[in-house]
Amino acid sequence: MSHELNGNRPGAAAAKPRIRAHVTGWGRYVPSQVLSNADLERMVDTNDEWIVSRTGIRERRVAAAHETTASMAAVAGLRAIRTAGIEPDEIDLILLATLTPDYWMPSTAALVKEAIGNTRAAAMDVAAACSGFVYGFATAQAWIESGLAKHVLVIGAELLTRFLDYSDRSTCILFGDGAGAAVLSASTEPGGSLGIELTTEPQGAYMIWLPAGGAKSPPSAETIARGEHFIRMEGKETYRFATRTLASTALESVRKSGLEPDDIRLFIPHQANIRIIEAVAKGLNLPMERMYTNVDKYGNTSAASVPIAMAEAVNEGRIDVGDRITIVAFGAGFTSGAVTIEWTADPARGRAADAAVQADDVHVRLPVDWDSVDPIPPALAELMARPGTVNPPLDDVVPGEPEPASRPLAR
Ligand code: ACO
Repeated sequence: MSHELNGNRPGAAAAKPRIRAHVTGWGRYVPSQVLSNADLERMVDTNDEWIVSRTGIRERRVAAAHETTASMAAVAGLRAIRTAGIEPDEIDLILLATLTPDYWMPSTAALVKEAIGNTRAAAMDVAAACSGFVYGFATAQAWIESGLAKHVLVIGAELLTRFLDYSDRSTCILFGDGAGAAVLSASTEPGGSLGIELTTEPQGAYMIWLPAGGAKSPPSAETIARGEHFIRMEGKETYRFATRTLASTALESVRKSGLEPDDIRLFIPHQANIRIIEAVAKGLNLPMERMYTNVDKYGNTSAASVPIAMAEAVNEGRIDVGDRITIVAFGAGFTSGAVTIEWTADPARGRAADAAVQADDVHVRLPVDWDSVDPIPPALAELMARPGTVNPPLDDVVPGEPEPASRPLAR
């Protein structure tokens, strides 16, 4: 119809080309300290055989005392920006998905904005637990397709090891720390992000939760004595939800993209448990080679899991230009989300980013006149004191004004 109205009349305005969101940058950061199953055997009544056979996890990473969710996010974010070949100040929106923000306020995204040297972007956190990166990605796509933003930095970052009860063997073995990021950019070229599927099922609200610290139960000596500042989980119910929802959410996103599962070169699922990922493969009737996994190395890093996996999959040569991939996650809420993407960026660009952005060069400004307590959980103190661990002195008292943000990236 519009073709008849516009197309054939001399002087008629040409139809506006459709703006699409393409992944142009990706990056990840994981702390250097490794917490192995053997380390956990010394803390709780567990063993490597149980953990590997029930979860597929062999080790996970633990952030050092000087690291925070914001600092890890800033490193991953700068690496993604470096991969995209743009300057930090070209980012219009920063979305940071996390369930472990540095503070209740300000948003961790605001701290990251300053740390990466961006002066222009709107910045906000996304709270959708392990599905947070996928929710952020879908939001970025909407901002770009509507013309509100040209470049969006989406980050998933978590520091879960500070919110675990190291006497609860059913949760403390599962989680680890890290950050992953992607830059989405507007383009009129074909490809990029295609179909989105997002779900929230609040019947599962108390299946994974952290009871105290919020308005319902503010932190107090009593909430701490009850251990209500740690993550709690009904493992079996969560497992059931995950196996039921992951394949159906992924399938819906694939179908909304006009595709079938067989058209997808690689699924990048949330890395919670190898058995859950195997169930997704079975549900989609696909071999495990079509599922990306790195849960053995990092455990469950919640919102960071999908972007870390996506960055590693590209850098390992598992994704090439023209491939269709589907990212899919589930988490507390219960939430789930999937986005199908036609990959258009040169995979070689990401491989140089880790070396180009060093963690030591990235700084998150600390508050004036406030000394935080040592954040390392007592159960991990021995691990973090091992020779070779980088433990710069904790110096939270940094007088002075904020530095003007400006950080041109070396090309
Ligand atoms: N080591 C040894 N034994 C253990 C451990 C452990 N670390 N943990 C539990 N057990 C024991 C239990 O006590 C139980 O013993 P019992 O039979 O004597 O009572 C036995 O092992 C079986 O326990 P189950 O809970 O039935 O084990 P299951 O096979 O269900 O595996 C697990 C547990 C791994 C937690 C699984 O249920 C799971 O992966 N659930 C999903 C969790 C998940 O994905 N969470 C992420 C949510 S994402 C987010 O938003 C944060």
